[in-house]
Amino acid sequence: MITGASSGLGRGMALEMASGGAHLGLLARREDLLNEIVSEARARNVNAVAATADVRDAKAVRNAADRFRKELGPIDILIANAGIGTTDHALRLTPEHAANVIEINVLGAVNSVAAVLPEMVERKQGRLVAISSLAAYRGLAKSAAYCASKAALSAYFESLRIDLRRTGVGVTIIHPGFIKTPRTAGRGAKMPYLMELDDGVKKIVSAIEKEKKLYAFPWQLATIVRAGRLMPVAMYDWIAERNSFRE
Ligand SMILES: NC(=O)c1ccc[n+]([C@@H]2O[C@H](COP(=O)([O-])OP(=O)(O)OC[C@H]3O[C@@H](n4cnc5c(N)ncnc54)[C@H](OP(=O)(O)O)[C@@H]3O)[C@@H](O)[C@H]2O)c1
Repeated sequence: MITGASSGLGRGMALEMASGGAHLGLLARREDLLNEIVSEARARNVNAVAATADVRDAKAVRNAADRFRKELGPIDILIANAGIGTTDHALRLTPEHAANVIEINVLGAVNSVAAVLPEMVERKQGRLVAISSLAAYRGLAKSAAYCASKAALSAYFESLRIDLRRTGVGVTIIHPGFIKTPRTAGRGAKMPYLMELDDGVKKIVSAIEKEKKLYAFPWQLATIVRAGRLMPVAMYDWIAERNSFRE
């Protein structure tokens, strides 16, 4: 089950996993795009089901998961990928906009986990995957809501990983850097170590298959971001202000 499957990383992961023989439960709001992926998956000789739902709607997500189970069988992997970004400076960021980012990026993933976890625990198998971001590590310029949402998402899945030890259900947290998708297309700001979609997708799918607990990439940017966590606040602020990744 992949949320946010209609575009970018979600679509890419769906097709990559279909090539590996996985059956797909695809969730997003844009039905026409999901149906195209269903056709492409079927051309790869796997079964795929599209369910339109908004991840903010817990009941709709549960109904979608029920449909996937009914038509495809038990859900082995949930990829909580649906997400949106922000480019708002603190002086322009409204509470409504911040709430929307957090509702989709965090509570959307919470709803998705709730729709699959009881059955995974009952079967004593399954994997929960969060598509978080390198933006989860520290605050970045013009990204308050996004960074907050990804930090929350990663912490949520980390806690799940601890709680789910010995249940048979594993957790994988992915922290990607910049990847070419419709979301990053047309951005004027610099995006260091920007990756091609195919390369990013292959790295994520491989990390899921290897059942990694945490995977941050590309390694160059992941190393810089991790080093940033150890920096004194004044030094971090000086560097972060001069390295805005948003126009
Ligand atoms: N691209 C990057 O550089 C990058 C880097 C780090 C992390 N990420 C993360 O990777 C994930 C995918 O990003 P992307 O770059 O592939 O973006 P994208 O091309 O804009 O795709 C976002 C997906 O999320 C879905 N979505 C958004 N709001 C939704 C909602 N309320 N309910 C259900 N689905 C919703 C969209 O589908 P519908 O509009 O059809 O609903 C779409 O399929 C996001 O969580 C993003 O934060 C991306």
